[in-house]
Amino acid sequence: MSVLSVVCTALGDPGKGASLPRLETQLLERIKLKSDQVRIRVASSSVNFADVLQLRGLYQEKLEPPFVPGKEVSGEVIEVGEKVTQFSPGSFVVAVCSSGAFAEECVAPASSCFPLPRGVDVREASAIPIAFGTAHLALVERAKLRPGQVVLVLGAGGGVGLAAVQIAKLLGARVVAVARGGTKGKAVKQFGADHWIDSETEGINLQVEVKKAAPAGVDVLFDTVGGQATHESIRCLRWGAQVLLIGFASGNIPSIAANIALVKNITLHGVYWGMYLSKAPEVVRESLREVLAWAAEGRLRVPICRSFPLEDARLALGVLHSREAVGKVILRPSAEMQPRL
Ligand SMILES: NC(=O)c1ccc[n+]([C@@H]2O[C@H](COP(=O)([O-])OP(=O)(O)OC[C@H]3O[C@@H](n4cnc5c(N)ncnc54)[C@H](OP(=O)(O)O)[C@@H]3O)[C@@H](O)[C@H]2O)c1
Repeated sequence: MSVLSVVCTALGDPGKGASLPRLETQLLERIKLKSDQVRIRVASSSVNFADVLQLRGLYQEKLEPPFVPGKEVSGEVIEVGEKVTQFSPGSFVVAVCSSGAFAEECVAPASSCFPLPRGVDVREASAIPIAFGTAHLALVERAKLRPGQVVLVLGAGGGVGLAAVQIAKLLGARVVAVARGGTKGKAVKQFGADHWIDSETEGINLQVEVKKAAPAGVDVLFDTVGGQATHESIRCLRWGAQVLLIGFASGNIPSIAANIALVKNITLHGVYWGMYLSKAPEVVRESLREVLAWAAEGRLRVPICRSFPLEDARLALGVLHSREAVGKVILRPSAEMQPRL
């Protein structure tokens, strides 16, 4: 049996320009399952910032071509290894893997699969684990966000950003969202932000704008962007604030002055969801259980802006790379799965 898969045969830049990654759709032979793995018929695969970095050879976890990109899927379990007891053929799951998600079928360790409750559309659920898992882990497990606190979200129109906006609102926080341009601005408002700052405004001083929106200061900074935006935001923190370091989408890793952290009693949290998955899997399992339950109850919405067939994986990656994505971009194999709501 062969599986339609997206194969990267050369690294490069998924956006426009000279050095594009070479991506081909190929029929690959099914691999044999290991005893602790499951095989999933993919309903959708989500495109992540990490995929773009990996295809450019810039991600911390390097892969040499040829490889099948992609790190998260949703779908139906169709086969399980002999040691797997928690899933069986017919189980619906979301799953994460180190690679191999951009395909009709995906093999993942059973320990990285999570049961999908009824009420969440299996065709969209691949957009949940990494984005919502990271936002939930950061805000709930690390910052222990409380109702009434002010959360400043940088990169709020992105996949992780829109998840953070929604979860912070659900927890009763006041959300100040920074996103570039009117389309992202509209989205962050629709997903619950109380205040939107347009980072595209000519001559903008982020520090001044945040202080206008939150005169008493920011309790929790949720930072997916890094660079200058971090420096300006740090100046808006109130005494005892917390900084959640999620990512550096700007490509610029900021230095945070230790004296400012000391004087203001600021706590810095480095948050790497993938590492939690291997070091504290029970924390991730409980966090995703809550996120998926909220999604099933309609308290969180999966923000999908574009959906592409596998053959157009490069276009999908390009949407993320060019910063056009508002929320999540997904790939869907051509054989449609029913929603099972
Ligand atoms: N720590 C973790 O476990 C974890 C998990 C998932 C993701 N991440 C990281 O979090 C960051 C955001 O991920 P995501 O999935 O939300 O990505 P995304 O959907 O592409 O969103 C990234 C946002 O960053 C902003 N941005 C600012 N400067 C940028 C630049 N030079 N290039 C691209 N985007 C830029 C963009 O907003 P504007 O256009 O509004 O400026 C964009 O909406 C990435 O760095 C990713 O690696 C970390």
